Amino acid sequence: MTSSEAILQARSVRKTFGGVVAVAVDSLDVEPGRITSLIGPNGAGKTTFFDIVTGFVRADGQILFDGYPIHGKPTHVIARSGLVRTFQLTRALSRMSVLENMMLASPDQPGERLGGLIRSAFQVNRIEREVRGHAEELLDRFNLTPLTNEYAGRLSGGQKKLLELARALMNRPRMVLLDEPMAGVNPALGEQLLGYVQELRDDGMTFLLVEHDMDVIMRVSDRVVVMSDGRIIADGSPGEVRADPAVVTAYLGEHGADVVASATEDDE
Ligand SMILES: Nc1ncnc2c1ncn2[C@@H]1O[C@H](COP(=O)(O)OP(=O)(O)OP(=O)(O)O)[C@@H](O)[C@H]1O
Ligand SMILES: [Mg+2]
Repeated sequence: MTSSEAILQARSVRKTFGGVVAVAVDSLDVEPGRITSLIGPNGAGKTTFFDIVTGFVRADGQILFDGYPIHGKPTHVIARSGLVRTFQLTRALSRMSVLENMMLASPDQPGERLGGLIRSAFQVNRIEREVRGHAEELLDRFNLTPLTNEYAGRLSGGQKKLLELARALMNRPRMVLLDEPMAGVNPALGEQLLGYVQELRDDGMTFLLVEHDMDVIMRVSDRVVVMSDGRIIADGSPGEVRADPAVVTAYLGEHGADVVASATEDDE
C-alpha cells in the first residue's frame, strides 16, 4: 500500500511513562474501508496508541488522518475531522437517558456556539430536531429503541457497549477506533455488535479494533497488527499472523497458551 492510500498514517510515535516505553511504533498505515485489528498481550500499548491517535495523550511522532496532521490537536477537533474512538471502560452518563447520552455525543449539540455567535432559538430547534432524528436512527439500527428513555446506568454491560458505539457514530465518523468493544458483552449481543461493525465496514467505514478474543479477530479482521512492549512485531492477514512464531512468543507467559490454542483450534 502506498501511503497516499492510507486513511491513517503513524510515524515514529513514541510514548514513555516513567521508564516504561508504552508505545514505540515506527510506522503504521491503515487502509480505508477495512477492519484492521490491533492485538497484543496486556500492557502492549494498544490503548495508549489509541489515546495518542485520538488526542487524549501527548506523544512524539507524526500522525496523519486523511493526509492532515492531527498529532497535538484537541480530541474534539480530531473527532470532528471524522476520527473517533470508544473506550475500554464505557463512558456513558448513568444519570441521563440513552437518548440524552446520544444527543450529548453529537458535535452539533444545540447548546454549542456557532462561530462565536449564540444560535437563535429557531436554529437551536432545527438542529435539535436533526440531532434527535440522527440519534433515533442509530438507536434503531442498534436495536436500542426500546431503551430510548431508560437511564444509561440501568443498561446491561453489553447494552452499554452498543450505546458506546452508537454514541461514537453520532459524529458521523469515517474511522472508528474500538477498544475491546466485546469485553463483558454476552455472546448474542457481541455477535450483534460485530455484525454492525461489519455492515458499517461494508458501507466504507474504517475500523481499528482492539480485541482479545482470537476467534473474533480471526473471523472479522481484514488485517491484523500485533504489538508487544509498545512495538509492532507482526503485521499481515489473520492467517499469516497466526502462523508467525514471533506472535506466539509474545503471548507465551501471558494468556499465550490459551491464545495459541484457540487460534489453532479452528484450523481447517
Ligand atoms: N497513564 C499511565 N501512566 C503510567 N503508565 C501507563 C499509563 N497508561 C499506560 N501505562 C503503561 O503503558 C503500558 C501500555 O499500557 P496500555 O494500557 O496501552 O496497554 P494495552 O495494550 O491496552 O493493555 P490491555 O490489553 O491490558 O488493555 C503498560 O505498561 C501500562 O502500565
Ligand atoms: Mg487496553
